[in-house]
Amino acid sequence: MKRTIIITGGAGFIGSHVVRLFVNKYPEYKIINLDKLTYAGNLANLKDIEDKPNYRFVKMDICDFEGVYKLMQDEHVDGIIHLAAESHVDRSIKDPFTFAQTNVMGTLSLLQAAKLYWESLPEKWEGKRFYHISTDEVYGALEMTNPEGIEPPFTTKASSGKHHMAYGSKFFTEDLKYQPHSPYSAAKASSDHFVRAFHDTYGMPTVVTNCSNNYGPYQFPEKLIPLFINNIRHRKPLPVYGKGENVRDWLYVEDHARAIDLIFHEGKVAETYNIGGFNEWKNIDIIKVLINTVDRILGRPEGADMDLITYVTDRAGHDMRYAIDSTKLQKELGWEPSLQFEEGIEKTVRWYLDNQEWMDNVTSGDYQKYYDDMYKNR
Ligand code: NAD
Ligand code: DAU
Repeated sequence: MKRTIIITGGAGFIGSHVVRLFVNKYPEYKIINLDKLTYAGNLANLKDIEDKPNYRFVKMDICDFEGVYKLMQDEHVDGIIHLAAESHVDRSIKDPFTFAQTNVMGTLSLLQAAKLYWESLPEKWEGKRFYHISTDEVYGALEMTNPEGIEPPFTTKASSGKHHMAYGSKFFTEDLKYQPHSPYSAAKASSDHFVRAFHDTYGMPTVVTNCSNNYGPYQFPEKLIPLFINNIRHRKPLPVYGKGENVRDWLYVEDHARAIDLIFHEGKVAETYNIGGFNEWKNIDIIKVLINTVDRILGRPEGADMDLITYVTDRAGHDMRYAIDSTKLQKELGWEPSLQFEEGIEKTVRWYLDNQEWMDNVTSGDYQKYYDDMYKNR
């Protein structure tokens, strides 16, 4: 079947993996990457697919309602996979307005453009889909407790029936109430509500997913894993917030992209699916793994760079623990993460060390010239 899909935020970290997957896997689809190219957008992330005939890049702000509406009409768009957002919690603490503008108003602009265009067609909603990518942070923070008094991490059994290590006995499930704490997660929560409202009010075929922390190639080095790999390489201090005790649940980015593909095609309309791999880690433990891995690969004595660890003032409102229960997705659609964390982190560290040029272009700001060099006169 032919389809024309807009993927927003396709020049960012997760978006670039989703665009690559769709362009390569579905040559019969037309994939339009709609991205404003903020500091987080880097078209060099998509060098390997930019000349494919089923790919088009459009530099546009999702808040540009008229522009999005016209693009949908001109291209006969029947699906939207919406990843564009301001995504960094620390930035949201300094500048909440930008987060409300992009994450809330931008999502509303896309929803309204899709509604007006799709409602104007004879077949209306049939064959259409608005897929909104959200975060586990909308659920707030979980405690690090264990009713049996055992020190975490301990082995627990998820509702899927499988055993895994956890730092607490509660997990984020789809039916939890929203309790966002940061301006970032508050804006994402608000956008999730708008998406549901467009289904409930107008009948738009929507789906929402909430995913845990992603890691892998092409992540902007303001986030923990790429920032720390680069700092270890250059023997720069590693700023650990608070005591480094906070727990995050990590998923390899290509496993997230595979889940998005599956849910876009097979997820039920109006449903929410949590995406995560039951993979909880304390920040400080991950940081030690990163130091050992970088040191080993670079031929330094393993652990030689532990003294780079520098405890700094904690992030304001720092959520203690995130832990996703993805049983619904696993049971209903048969999705499973493909990579063990040890394998994923080894791949990730090697990718950043092998792609120093990509990292240098990002840290120097040169990546922002890529659009002018490659696209402006096309
Ligand atoms: P990112 O910051 O790496 O990329 C965001 C992309 O959106 C960039 O290419 C940027 O240019 C684009 N963008 C920003 N504002 C825009 C606007 N107004 N108009 C058009 N494009 C705009 O983000 P990411 O980490 O890849 O996250 C992608 C999505 O997934 C976000 O919605 C985020 O909330 C969600 N998410 C991320 C994670 C994670 O661990 N990174 C986990 C769960 C959910
Ligand atoms: O849970 C999903 C979310 O994961 C996504 O929705 C967000 O877009 C994404 O940025 C990520 O949010 P986090 O705040 O968890 O990611 P970050 O990489 O910023 O931080 C991970 C943990 O590491 C967090 O507990 C804060 C800590 N940290 C982070 C940085 C950048 C440090 O200790 N030092 C640092 O310098």
